[in-house]
Amino acid sequence: MNKHATLDKIVSWAKRRGFIFQTSSIYGGLANNYDYGPNGVLLKNNIRDHWWKKFVEQRKDIVGLDGAILMQKEVWQASGHVENFNDPLVEDKVTHKRYRADHLIEDWAAKNEKAVDVESMKIEDMAEFIANHNIPSPDGHDLTEPQKFGLMFETSVGATSNKDDSKIYLRPETAQSIFINFKNVTDSMRVKVPFGIAQVGKAFRNEITKGQFIFRTIETEQMEIEYFIHPEEEWEKLYKNWKRDIIDFYIELGVPEKDLQFRKHTPEELSHYSKVTYDLDYDFDFGFKEIVGFAHRTNYDLTQHKNKSHEKLEYRDPYTNEKYIPHVLEPSFGLSRAVLTAMYAAYTEDELENGKIRTLLKFPAKIAPVKAAIFPLQKDDKLQRLAKDIYNDLKGNFVCDFDNAGNIGKMYRRQDEIGTPYCITIDYDSIDDKCVTIRDRDTMKQERIDIDKLPKWLKEKINQTVD
Ligand code: GAP
Repeated sequence: MNKHATLDKIVSWAKRRGFIFQTSSIYGGLANNYDYGPNGVLLKNNIRDHWWKKFVEQRKDIVGLDGAILMQKEVWQASGHVENFNDPLVEDKVTHKRYRADHLIEDWAAKNEKAVDVESMKIEDMAEFIANHNIPSPDGHDLTEPQKFGLMFETSVGATSNKDDSKIYLRPETAQSIFINFKNVTDSMRVKVPFGIAQVGKAFRNEITKGQFIFRTIETEQMEIEYFIHPEEEWEKLYKNWKRDIIDFYIELGVPEKDLQFRKHTPEELSHYSKVTYDLDYDFDFGFKEIVGFAHRTNYDLTQHKNKSHEKLEYRDPYTNEKYIPHVLEPSFGLSRAVLTAMYAAYTEDELENGKIRTLLKFPAKIAPVKAAIFPLQKDDKLQRLAKDIYNDLKGNFVCDFDNAGNIGKMYRRQDEIGTPYCITIDYDSIDDKCVTIRDRDTMKQERIDIDKLPKWLKEKINQTVD
């Protein structure tokens, strides 16, 4: 665990420095939903782009897709989500506030220092546990029996008075767009099993839960891959390689491997479609929590869609003509959880020689929102013009900041706090020697380099930090 980072510190830093704001805050906020501010959206997009490059553009066996959020409701009937995608919900009998039964049991176990395996409990076990231990609501009142609460948001399309005809769902996972496009992709692209289809996009879940900032939100983004394999393929070997790729992605975001661990789902915990699932958990200050789900989904989804749609969803091997429904391995990353994890890993408080604390975000340069900040140190016109020229030259290739507010200490502090890896100062000497001083965020060491060499120097440094 990064001992510097706590949820309280991350929440207030993220707001203060333009990363994350509570959504609709001028109207009192909306529970479990957030907006990304100017620095947050840069960080999120950099993480998303790195994922896409690593898993799609740099691999020959994976193609991309961008499916619609709204789909026919049959998709969710066939996938089993209408029947199975729910949480155990209890209600406070007095206030009528709703809670997740498993979360209340976890809180009770932590408070009473008891080891309880909530993950393995069925809804009946939770009902019995709550009754046997007299677990009250957080306001101290009696609770109703746990009920299954559907997590999909419903909406309607078109102008019809028949609600059932027009009802559709906002997708709760991006994966189903991939399964329903399986035939389109195999018919139009020269893909050969084993191959994957990847997608990044929004997903929606009506989460009734105490929020942990952007860890669990009702509107989120997923980065998912469905990796199709032959039913008799040695899947354990591929699965092991994928686990390594998943960990490596997080290491590239600056997350130490020691803070990551895979956890195997118990049989009771497995989703209705899964044969084996491991979660990758990160060591947050609120516990080891899932940041990636990695399921072996067998041929469940393609078979379900084949049966319901009557479309031929088999794959035909172009060399042997063998026809079969492939099995699928599914690494499923939450983009907002990747952002939160990168923030936790980067957040650092350094004690300076004068005893003051310097807050810095040690993002790898490739994902840092701003790559370089340019500071002219004096007001002189010639010097200001030179600094502006350098800024204009760099900003076409890198996100840069320009600050001539004056107080160098404050300017450094502001950039350290948003994780800018390089600050470039221009002084009187720069006019004559055509050199600038680069200050490194982490070491605070300074280096003098030729203005002409600056773009290449920055490019090398930025690429070096992730690939
Ligand atoms: N297609 C499989 C699937 O959706 P999941 O374990 O339910 O599996 C995968 O979700 C990942 O999506 C999780 O590991 C998490 O990173 C992210 N995720 C799921 N629900 C989320 C939520 N409410 N808020 C933020 N991220 C979420």
